[in-house]
Amino acid sequence: MKFSIVVAVDLELGIGKNNSLPWRLPGDMKFFKNLTSTAAEGKRNAVIMGRKTWESLPSKSKPLPNRLNIVVSTQSDYQLPEDVLLADSLEKALELAEAESSVDHTFVIGGAQIYETAIDDPNLDKIYLTEVYGSFDCDKFFPEYEDDFKVVSKSDAQFENEVEYTFIILEPNWIR
Ligand SMILES: NC(=O)c1ccc[n+]([C@@H]2O[C@H](COP(=O)([O-])OP(=O)(O)OC[C@H]3O[C@@H](n4cnc5c(N)ncnc54)[C@H](OP(=O)(O)O)[C@@H]3O)[C@@H](O)[C@H]2O)c1
Repeated sequence: MKFSIVVAVDLELGIGKNNSLPWRLPGDMKFFKNLTSTAAEGKRNAVIMGRKTWESLPSKSKPLPNRLNIVVSTQSDYQLPEDVLLADSLEKALELAEAESSVDHTFVIGGAQIYETAIDDPNLDKIYLTEVYGSFDCDKFFPEYEDDFKVVSKSDAQFENEVEYTFIILEPNWIR
């Protein structure tokens, strides 16, 4: 099934530090929530994340509401709330999302390890990339992507907490 990546990167492609987001950008959080929650009537979207990203979410905001949450982990006994699905690979997670007839769009929402797999997947349709114009001393990074993807849209500059950022949509160059 086709899916999208959603990610925010700094100028070094940094995405995280100490298993947390390196910046506080409420406008980007709002964008993420709207994008991943907006589905056709009677449907909901799926969000697929690595185990460490799941653990990094504040307990009050997980599972992400109104979305099918799927966590990827090789630990077959990893404990999750009843309504959250566990998959042992990205491929399996995509299959679980596809098997749910109520799922509209599917988003891979991080972190670094799962992006590494997702970016090479032929079913990857779009990258929703928030480009943050700063350097945040990150310890986790998004893969190099520029040769394989083209920009199809770019928002006006946003400013928040003295940080400038833009919302970019990329599509793969490869022919399907
Ligand atoms: N800026 C952004 O947009 C953004 C978005 C999301 C996350 N982040 C940040 O990214 C960082 C976390 O990234 P991370 O790379 O450390 O962790 P991650 O990708 O969230 O989780 C890694 C874990 O997920 C499982 N996993 C990932 N890919 C797998 C695969 N293909 N097959 C099977 N299992 C797989 C493994 O779990 P097991 O070890 O249990 O097997 C692995 O240890 C945090 O700092 C977070 O804040 C940033």
